[in-house]
Amino acid sequence: MKKIKDNSYIQNKVLKLNSEQPWNHNIILPGNIETRPGNQMSHGKNLVKWNRIEPIIDSLGIANKNVLDLGCNEGFFSKELADKGANVLGIDIDELRIKKAKFVQSILGFTNPAFKVIDIYSREFQNLDKFDLCLCMGFIHRIPDPYTAIQAIGSKTDTILFEWKALKQGPHDDAYAYFSQKNINKDDYYGTEYWLVSYAALESVLKRMNFKYFYRLDDPRQRRAILVASKVDNKIFSQSNIIVHRGRIRTFLSHTKRYLQSIIKIITGKINS
Ligand SMILES: C[S@@+](CC[C@H](N)C(=O)[O-])C[C@H]1O[C@@H](n2cnc3c(N)ncnc32)[C@H](O)[C@@H]1O
Repeated sequence: MKKIKDNSYIQNKVLKLNSEQPWNHNIILPGNIETRPGNQMSHGKNLVKWNRIEPIIDSLGIANKNVLDLGCNEGFFSKELADKGANVLGIDIDELRIKKAKFVQSILGFTNPAFKVIDIYSREFQNLDKFDLCLCMGFIHRIPDPYTAIQAIGSKTDTILFEWKALKQGPHDDAYAYFSQKNINKDDYYGTEYWLVSYAALESVLKRMNFKYFYRLDDPRQRRAILVASKVDNKIFSQSNIIVHRGRIRTFLSHTKRYLQSIIKIITGKINS
């Protein structure tokens, strides 16, 4: 028998899915039911991220393009891209996340975007067709081996939009990667943090894969970096990078703190000079 999807059915299902794994994206469903109600102002939240990347998406132009949303989670961005006329595939390694994305799909009744459980390191990923654009948001600091992952992405598309957690104070013009000191996230294994990489580090890897054009949008108040990288030219690359400077005093204090910490570690024998 067909289930009637009234508001109480939707609300109960949202709560049941939340008990299996907390929602990450706040998606508004019929009856104004929110999958993740509450404060959405933090830097990693989907609505904040979307406000930052939407002008870039519009500038790139995605109508009728094939777009891959890598690490799509519950599919908020996939749906926004599809609403702008792109044909979107959202993939994620995590079955529970794709289960929630498919629940949203069934409630809102769309076929584009499509969602699939796929690991970026898998043969199935290698067998995917090529895409015009890959959205790579909140992803590159969540994987143990970004080099192999970037190689895999670069074989599937000529243009990638990265959004990631980078080092707050840089240095962004040095090819720099810092291994996170956080532990494995036991409640959300695929939400574990690994490498925090600078712009120059990410660009250096991409250059080996024939990416030539880069557009940086860096705002330390957002604590998240954005980079568009491409093998082909686009009008976005003739714009100047948008860099909000960190302020001399904050940068000076941060570098001095790191310098003093290293000196203390050398004196106490924790690292070699
Ligand atoms: C922090 S979330 C970001 C989700 C979404 N893109 C966003 O910006 O809100 C990172 C996502 O990458 C997925 N992920 C981690 N490792 C993956 C892999 N090897 N292949 C595909 N997806 C992966 C996780 O399951 C998770 O949904």
